[in-house]
Amino acid sequence: MKNTRLKFPRDFLWGAAISSHQTEGGNTNDWTEWEKQNASRLAKKARVKFPEWQQEKFPEMFDPKNYISGSACDHYNQFQEDFDIAKELGLNAFRLSFEWSRLEPEQGKFDEKEIAHYKEVIRALKERNLEPFVTLWHWTLPLWAASQGGLKNRQFKYWFSRYAEKIAQEFQEDIKFWITLNEPDFYALACYSRGSWPPQEKSFYSFLRVYMNLVWAHRAAYGVIKEVSPSTQIGLAKDNIYFEARPRTLLNVLLKKCADFFGNYLFLNKTRLYSDFIGLNYYHHNTINKGLRKNENKIVSDLGWELYPEGIYHVLKDLERYKQPIYVTENGLADQEDTRRQWFIEETLNSIQKARDEGVDIRGYFHWSLLDNFEWDKGFWPKFGLVEINPKTKERKIRPSAYFYKDIIARASS
Ligand code: BGC
Repeated sequence: MKNTRLKFPRDFLWGAAISSHQTEGGNTNDWTEWEKQNASRLAKKARVKFPEWQQEKFPEMFDPKNYISGSACDHYNQFQEDFDIAKELGLNAFRLSFEWSRLEPEQGKFDEKEIAHYKEVIRALKERNLEPFVTLWHWTLPLWAASQGGLKNRQFKYWFSRYAEKIAQEFQEDIKFWITLNEPDFYALACYSRGSWPPQEKSFYSFLRVYMNLVWAHRAAYGVIKEVSPSTQIGLAKDNIYFEARPRTLLNVLLKKCADFFGNYLFLNKTRLYSDFIGLNYYHHNTINKGLRKNENKIVSDLGWELYPEGIYHVLKDLERYKQPIYVTENGLADQEDTRRQWFIEETLNSIQKARDEGVDIRGYFHWSLLDNFEWDKGFWPKFGLVEINPKTKERKIRPSAYFYKDIIARASS
């Protein structure tokens, strides 16, 4: 078995990750509104959007209900059970997000009941020795913010930093690691350039405006959280891609440099002075050969994404330039039958170990995801979970790969 080679320090953080909208259920935010308006369209579009093999394997994609987050994994009510599973798997850290729309349902008015709820959530993690990594914003907006133009509004950074300050005050004793924003530049792209996510705009001007508002929001939140508790560690979760020039012709290398700069570095460059660590979400390899996405696709996930675990090594090596600790805050695959997940986890960890051995300061790994959950505009059919969820009964069933991950953690830290 290859994993016998793995050796990580005792204080390495082993985790899994989830987000509020994708798991909690019962939310009311800009996405829930968008889901209601777009479920039928997405179900119809599935016939042309996905290839035949996916259509055959996941007929749920034709059902509008698939696109409604609804009760999701009911994690809001079942978090104790979910954290029991995380503990049982030998994890010592856990990444989740707080749902802004619950905490500040009306502009400037915080809901004490929901603050108390998340206090219970954090207590439940701590009781199980799971170090919380809390994301303040994982893509959903309170309705009051969305109705005022959301991310495009110049006030966004004030809204976000007021929320961050209040939450930092409430949780200052308990949370050491904050992630302000999840994949901010990808969000800007999907919502304001490709126009596939709410509010479905396709405008370069809006994209730039949102991009910069996210930069400012991060910086402002960093400032207020540090003022409340100077010793907390603050970062953001950045989705970096392994762009590979193959063959390494002048054109391909130039294209790679552009893609790296705009896709991987620019947002980090703009926020590096306001970050204590880098959160890396790694999912994609992108082969460049006179154009983008020339991947061989030898092994793909249920979403058709190429599985290229060794790419994380290159991405991590590139991040060394920032001289900050790195936590892999997301990495995973849609694999309903659980036939590729063990291989993928093992190869990914081998690549992380290789980068660590060469001096890259990587301090943790969070698998996406603990639970099968709501995959945004694809709905529920892609299964990213170490744990399977019965959509009707919400019963949890631990997949074999989760035990494999448990075993790796035990061996690697012994
Ligand atoms: C996001 C998750 C998402 C995952 C898989 C990441 O970019 O942060 O919310 O579920 O990718 O698509």
